[in-house]
Amino acid sequence: MAKEDEKKETGEWKEFFWNPRTHELLGRTASSWGLILLFYLIFYTFLAGMFCLTMYVMLLTLDDYQPTWQDRLATPGMMIRPKTDLLEIVYNVEKTESWDSYVQALDTFLAPYNDSQQVMKNDGCVPDQYFTQEDSGEVRNNPKRSCQFNRTVLEECSGLSDHTYGYQDGKPCVLIKLNRVIGLLPGEKGRSPYVTCRARKEDSDSIGTVAYFPPTGSFNLMYYPYYGKRAQVNYSQPLVAVKFMNISLNTDVNVECMINSNSNTTQFKISERDKFAGRVIFKLRINKV
Ligand SMILES: *[C@@H]1O[C@H](CO)[C@@H](O)[C@H](O)[C@H]1NC(C)=O
Ligand SMILES: *[C@@H]1O[C@H](CO)[C@@H](O)[C@H](O)[C@H]1NC(C)=O
Ligand SMILES: *[C@@H]1O[C@H](CO)[C@@H](O)[C@H](O)[C@H]1NC(C)=O
Ligand SMILES: *[C@@H]1O[C@H](CO)[C@@H](O)[C@H](O)[C@H]1NC(C)=O
Ligand SMILES: *[C@@H]1O[C@H](CO)[C@@H](O)[C@H](O)[C@H]1NC(C)=O
Repeated sequence: MAKEDEKKETGEWKEFFWNPRTHELLGRTASSWGLILLFYLIFYTFLAGMFCLTMYVMLLTLDDYQPTWQDRLATPGMMIRPKTDLLEIVYNVEKTESWDSYVQALDTFLAPYNDSQQVMKNDGCVPDQYFTQEDSGEVRNNPKRSCQFNRTVLEECSGLSDHTYGYQDGKPCVLIKLNRVIGLLPGEKGRSPYVTCRARKEDSDSIGTVAYFPPTGSFNLMYYPYYGKRAQVNYSQPLVAVKFMNISLNTDVNVECMINSNSNTTQFKISERDKFAGRVIFKLRINKV
């Protein structure tokens, strides 16, 4: 009895798969299958076409030279060189190998700033005013020129007179740069923004005197606005070097450098919440036994 049922069932299944009487495969005739396949073929071709068209239109609106959208932070971030993952510069004056990597990082970073390189690549611009090179309507003004930032401007921190950037003497130099933001005009009342560094509260007795190079500690207006990597191929970011002249030894010193402008209605909002907007915080520890 049970066996008969089983037989009947498998027979039904077989018939469903291929019914020799009606010539139906899985319950459909050949022409029905053909129509279904045709439908899906057309449907998917149409979808693919739509996708390509949308993509094409979107790519048309993109500009090679400028991002269509950018999250414009009101206050750009700052970064230091030499940069380590934890933003710590820790070394022992007496152990060359402990500071050699910092010196090498600075050498590498500053090589494109060599005066000879700058004269070759960039223009000597008029200081204290923006170097604007707008496109005139649809006519692109590309590539755009950039201004010279000579390595010698960093004086004692240029690595030219003192090849160890002060690391050997326990008076290390740290370079500060402002992150690139396309179109940023950082000046206020026609004056350049400048960097100041100070110790975080608890370390204020240990930071000693800080020297700035160039002495104004400023990012000159002539390096702005920045037009993007593609438009301004030879752009050299302006730098400010900070030299710690008599920082306490064998002590952690937490340093905070920030960007300042010359007015009270400043565009650089330094908030305690965003640790990286308009400032950079790093740790210095110079050991000497
Ligand atoms: C830059 O100048 C330094 C010191 O004069 C030199 O050692 C280095 O090779 C120069 N680098 C480039 C890329 O010209
Ligand atoms: C950079 O140095 C070169 C060579 O010393 C000099 O001719 C040029 O005027 C300097 N540029 C700036 C902006 O100081
Ligand atoms: C960039 O620098 C090269 C030399 O390294 C120079 O030939 C070229 O004209 C410069 N381009 C611009 C747009 O300043
Ligand atoms: C660092 O030197 C300056 C003068 O050059 C002096 O006023 C200051 O007290 C010194 N600070 C420390 C921590 O030695
Ligand atoms: C900023 O404000 C203070 C007092 O509110 C004022 O004394 C100072 O002159 C102002 N500075 C600038 C650059 O406007």
